[in-house]
Amino acid sequence: MAHQQIQIFDTTLRDGEQVPGCKLNREEKLVIARQLELLGVDVIEAGFPVSSPGDFAAVQAIAAQTREATVCGLSRAVENDIRVAAEALQKARYPRIHTGIGTSDVHILHKLCTTREDVLARAVAAVKLAKSFVEDVEFYAEDAGRTDNEFLARVCEEVIKAGATVLNIPDTTGYCLPQEYGAKIKFLHENVRGIDNVRLSTHCHNDLGLATANSIAGVMNGARQIECTINGVGERAGNTALEEVVMILRQHPYLNLDTRINTRLLAETSAMVSHLMTMPVQPNKAIVGSNAFSHSSGIHQDGIIKHRETYEIIDPKEVGVADSSIVLTARSGRAALAYRLQKIGYDFEKVALNKAYACFLELADRKREVMDEDLHALVEQEKLVAVG
Ligand code: KIV
Ligand code: ZN
Repeated sequence: MAHQQIQIFDTTLRDGEQVPGCKLNREEKLVIARQLELLGVDVIEAGFPVSSPGDFAAVQAIAAQTREATVCGLSRAVENDIRVAAEALQKARYPRIHTGIGTSDVHILHKLCTTREDVLARAVAAVKLAKSFVEDVEFYAEDAGRTDNEFLARVCEEVIKAGATVLNIPDTTGYCLPQEYGAKIKFLHENVRGIDNVRLSTHCHNDLGLATANSIAGVMNGARQIECTINGVGERAGNTALEEVVMILRQHPYLNLDTRINTRLLAETSAMVSHLMTMPVQPNKAIVGSNAFSHSSGIHQDGIIKHRETYEIIDPKEVGVADSSIVLTARSGRAALAYRLQKIGYDFEKVALNKAYACFLELADRKREVMDEDLHALVEQEKLVAVG
C-alpha cells in the first residue's frame, strides 16, 4: 500500500525564533529558509509579519525566494495582523495565512476576557478576511489541548465553512498525554462536518517531554500535517523536533505514513540552525545529538563492531552522519581498543593487545576520553610491535 503523505510544516523561523537568545536577522532567516526548502519541508512558517518591521521584511524576502514550499505568515485573529501578513506574502508562489485565537476556557476567560460565542465570531471573521487575500488559510485554535472537545468541534466546523483549508490543533502548553491528544484528533475527525475537505494539523509543545509522542498520536488518528522545528527549538521546553517525527515515520513503515524529507540533510540542517541561533544541541538529543551514534561501553562496542544493528536502529548515513563512532573511555573493552588501533594502522597479536589494553585502562582512568594521539603515544612508549 502506498504511504500517505504527512506534510511537514516547519516553524523554526517563527515559533523557534521566539526563544530568547535565538533571534535571527533577515539574512540568517533567508539562509535557513533555503536549507529548509532543500530539506523538503512542505510549509515554511517564515515569521509573524506584524510583530516587527524586521520580521515583515524577512517574511517578504523568504516569500520572494521560495519556489517549492508554501510560505506561511502568522497572525492573530486581528484585522491589521491579517492585512500585514497578506502584504508580506504577496510575492509568495504558494502563500498561506495562519490565523487563530485561543479556544480554551482559561484563554477565553483570563486572556481574552470574553465569551465562547465572541471567540467563535472572531475566528470566523478572521478566516473570512484571510480568505479574501489568499486561497490557503490555516486556522489555529490556540490551547486546543485544553479546549473542550465539543466547543473545539463547533469552532472547527464554522471556520471550515468560512474557508479554512488547514485546521491546526495546538497543544500550546504541552499538557496532553498521547492517547488524549490522539483521541482529540479522532473526535474532530468523526464529529466535524466538512473535515474531509481540510487538513488537520498537529502543533505540540514539549513541556512534559511529550511533543513528539503527541504529534505521532495525532497522525495515527487522522492528522495529515505536523508542525515542528529543527532541533525542537521553541518556546519554553520547545516544539516537536522535526528530525524525530520524520525518522519515527521512516523507521516504522507499517504505519503507512511518510514525509518528503531528504533525511540525509538532517545533520547539516541541525548544525546550521544550532550555529545561527547560538543554541547548542544537547549531546544525547535523538537523531542529531553528538552522542546519537556514538558508543562507549565495552558491551555495546563489541556488538556494534560485530554487527551495527545490534545497538543502532538507524544507519547514521541515513541522517547525514558519516559513521557510528567508537569512543574510548575507561568503560571500553579490548574489541574497541583493537578496532580503534586498527583504524590508525596498528594490528596487534593477542599478547601485545593485552599489554596495550592494560596501559590503555591506566590512561583512561585518568582521562575522560582517549584520543588517537594518545594511542600513538601509548604504542611508542610501550614499544608495542604491530603485526604486518
Ligand atoms: O503554540 C501555539 O498555540 C502556537 C500558535 C500561535 C499556532 O504557536
Ligand atoms: Zn506554538
